Amino acid sequence: MQDQLVVAILIFCTASSSLWVGHGLSTFDVLHYGAKGNGLIDDSEAFLKAWNAACVVTGNTIPTILVPEGHTFKLQPTNFKGPCKSKNINFQLMGTILAPQKSEWKGDVKKWIVFSMVDGLSLYGSGLIDGQGFEWWNNTKKPIKEFDLSLGSVGLHIPTALRFNSCNDLNMNGVNHINGPGGHINVHECKNVTISGLNITSPGNSPNTDGIDISYSSQVEISNSFIGVGDDCIAIKGGCSHIKIHHIACGPGHGISIRSLKQNDKVEDVHVWNCSINGATNGARIKTWPLEGNGYARKISFEHITFINTTYPIIIDQNYGIKVKDEGGINVSDITYYDLKGTCAKDIAISLNCGTKYCSNITMNQINIISADPAKEATTLCNNVQGNFRNVIPKVTCS
Ligand SMILES: *[C@@H]1O[C@H](CO)[C@@H](O)[C@H](O)[C@H]1NC(C)=O
Ligand SMILES: *[C@@H]1O[C@H](CO)[C@@H](O)[C@H](O)[C@H]1NC(C)=O
Ligand SMILES: *[C@@H]1O[C@H](CO)[C@@H](O)[C@H](O)[C@H]1NC(C)=O
Ligand SMILES: *[C@@H]1O[C@H](CO)[C@@H](O)[C@H](O)[C@H]1NC(C)=O
Ligand SMILES: *[C@@H]1O[C@H](CO)[C@@H](O)[C@H](O)[C@H]1NC(C)=O
Ligand SMILES: *[C@@H]1O[C@H](CO)[C@@H](O)[C@H](O)[C@H]1NC(C)=O
Ligand SMILES: *[C@@H]1O[C@H](CO)[C@@H](O)[C@H](O)[C@H]1NC(C)=O
Repeated sequence: MQDQLVVAILIFCTASSSLWVGHGLSTFDVLHYGAKGNGLIDDSEAFLKAWNAACVVTGNTIPTILVPEGHTFKLQPTNFKGPCKSKNINFQLMGTILAPQKSEWKGDVKKWIVFSMVDGLSLYGSGLIDGQGFEWWNNTKKPIKEFDLSLGSVGLHIPTALRFNSCNDLNMNGVNHINGPGGHINVHECKNVTISGLNITSPGNSPNTDGIDISYSSQVEISNSFIGVGDDCIAIKGGCSHIKIHHIACGPGHGISIRSLKQNDKVEDVHVWNCSINGATNGARIKTWPLEGNGYARKISFEHITFINTTYPIIIDQNYGIKVKDEGGINVSDITYYDLKGTCAKDIAISLNCGTKYCSNITMNQINIISADPAKEATTLCNNVQGNFRNVIPKVTCS
């Protein structure tokens, strides 16, 4: 009896979606592809079936995968692969997608939900992506310090919750993210990306839970979002250009970072404005490795930013990562800080710690940062910086 009902529903849906196809609409509800949505059973296969059906839709319709409200879908690591036949594809997330616990994890331990080579993807809705990171967090204390020189990165084996690989013309709006095992969102090798209206939340002491990481991507705009996590709110890594970040409330976390750039990493044209950083360990941060190369971080601006009790509101660190003799590092130049104000949690408001002769054209204007503790006076630190400092409180004196 129940089977007949399911068959009837399937026939109805297949018929109705093919009816809609001609009219520019087609919805692929994961429940119609066998997902249970009870938070217990692995629904990955049903999600892939819905995806595969949507991905082959041709014509002028925009296929929409629907993850309906009122259900919790547990997914093992899943890769939604493109390219799809249609120019655009929608993924409407209204319900909850739940990660397996670490102990029940199957397959790839570096990724969880992946979209790869999907152009024109729009992921939106008021739903939730819950990474259930607890078991990962208290087992990851050791690997954090294991820097892998050949990879130029930290050798972590922790899943990123949501990863976009080579997805051009990507749009993401409104989704909630909590408790990522590692980072929450990773945008890698994507061009033309718009992200807005997100709420990303993990405890301030959860390790490696970056909000949004961007690497080898260009024309990325992130706005109007709340990000409170245990690592960087937003991290811009090597190979990025034309990045806009604005109207972000960040904290707790490690701030908005141009991050861990190694020898040949290049980052340029990053503009951050109208953001607030509350109770984070860093605010506006640029950190690079002390190894010589032809990489650079240049044409970066931070404007109209408010700090609330932030440990290092403004920081450039060219000796990040590994402890080696200062080989100079990569060039950091054309960096503008304008209208940044608020309070710092410890005594250093501005820390510019550059390697020998590699920070040039650093401009500050209208900076006013005081200590959150009225009994303390905020100070600054500046090594090897060539720049122009006007109306900066506390005063920056460079050696
Ligand atoms: C690790 O996480 C588990 C699951 O949340 C928890 O029960 C356990 O107490 C944690 N262990 C430590 C050492 O924090
Ligand atoms: C960028 O992507 C959006 C879809 O998110 C699309 O509407 C727009 O045309 C794309 N812009 C360019 C310059 O390709
Ligand atoms: C973001 O989500 C968290 C946890 O779900 C919630 O406590 C918080 O109020 C939300 N913040 C905003 C600004 O929506
Ligand atoms: C950005 O912040 C500045 C200073 O607070 C304000 O004057 C300006 O209107 C803001 N811009 C936008 C687009 O919100
Ligand atoms: C780094 O900057 C120095 C001084 O401005 C310049 O001479 C050098 O060519 C730059 N190196 C690279 C790789 O851009
Ligand atoms: C310094 O950087 C600013 C901002 O990127 C740029 O407009 C200006 O041309 C640079 N000055 C020099 C001398 O390169
Ligand atoms: C600032 O943050 C520190 C923790 O970093 C906390 O101990 C202190 O109470 C906070 N101060 C204010 C004024 O909020």
